[in-house]
Amino acid sequence: MSSKQQCVKLNDGHFIPALGFGTYKPEEVPENKPLEAIHLAIEAGFRHIDTAFVYQTESHVGQAIRSKIAAGLVKREDIFLTTKLWCTFHRPELVQSNLEKSLKNLQLDYVDLYIIHYPMQMKPGEDLFPVDEHGKTLFDTVDICATWEVECHLYLNQSKLLNYCKSKDIALVAYCALGSQRPKRWVDPNSPVLLNDSVLCDMAKKHKRSPAQIALRYQLQRGIVVLAQSYKENEIKENIQVFEFELPSEDMKILDSLNRNLRYAPAPFGEGHPEYPFSDEF
Ligand SMILES: NC(=O)c1ccc[n+]([C@@H]2O[C@H](COP(=O)([O-])OP(=O)(O)OC[C@H]3O[C@@H](n4cnc5c(N)ncnc54)[C@H](OP(=O)(O)O)[C@@H]3O)[C@@H](O)[C@H]2O)c1
Repeated sequence: MSSKQQCVKLNDGHFIPALGFGTYKPEEVPENKPLEAIHLAIEAGFRHIDTAFVYQTESHVGQAIRSKIAAGLVKREDIFLTTKLWCTFHRPELVQSNLEKSLKNLQLDYVDLYIIHYPMQMKPGEDLFPVDEHGKTLFDTVDICATWEVECHLYLNQSKLLNYCKSKDIALVAYCALGSQRPKRWVDPNSPVLLNDSVLCDMAKKHKRSPAQIALRYQLQRGIVVLAQSYKENEIKENIQVFEFELPSEDMKILDSLNRNLRYAPAPFGEGHPEYPFSDEF
């Protein structure tokens, strides 16, 4: 199980488990599901949990972690917990209070990673990122970023961004690694379903694995930290089994060739913003 999982070393010396559990809750998922799923995920061995203020799952995440600590299954330091600063709080004077709100929702003392969610217009709070003697906030130097969390999967494999991140010692964290799957508000219903890809499905059969496992394993072998989300027990258990097998390099090359620069989550609410990031090459 869990604690022997592969980790990626961050540029600040901390380690992040290479497989994380996503906790975005689509509208149609019942309110009680996130808590149940996060319990199952920790029991199955997930030690990296990804939430965000805007997902409204922080309280469930915190409750599940605290209950697993109380039950003696994990210690707080065994869990790598991420939450995110939503766009409406990017103004410097709002950063600290939003972090405090998240910690209150979580009922925990700290998070391991605080991500600026869709950083289109922000200069992060100088309380958190003090100005140095050259008048720059630490964030002006991209090297201080420990991670970039971006959409990344077989149809948008981000190879150029990955090379850039590697050159800067930034860990790339992949979301929508399973193609996000419908129904979700932001996924175009006409877009191809990633996990139905025939090349992926044939490869899964060959390895006696599921397409989801191959899609996740592909990212791990590229040195990417990958998130997987599910509200189904069988899928949660299946997704953690990605450390049990390896893809040969010829299969990695075949999977590389599936890239088609298809973005499932284009963040349409940001379109038209001068710093909307998804029109750029990266
Ligand atoms: N930073 C950001 O801006 C950002 C943006 C988007 C997402 N995220 C994070 O990334 C996480 C994952 O993103 P995502 O939910 O869009 O995409 P995803 O992980 O690519 O896809 C999740 C979907 O895949 C299905 N699934 C999971 N395991 C499966 C399996 N073994 N076999 C078949 N289907 C499986 C799930 O279905 P069921 O639920 O029906 O089981 C779920 O609908 C989110 O929860 C969130 O934490 C971050």
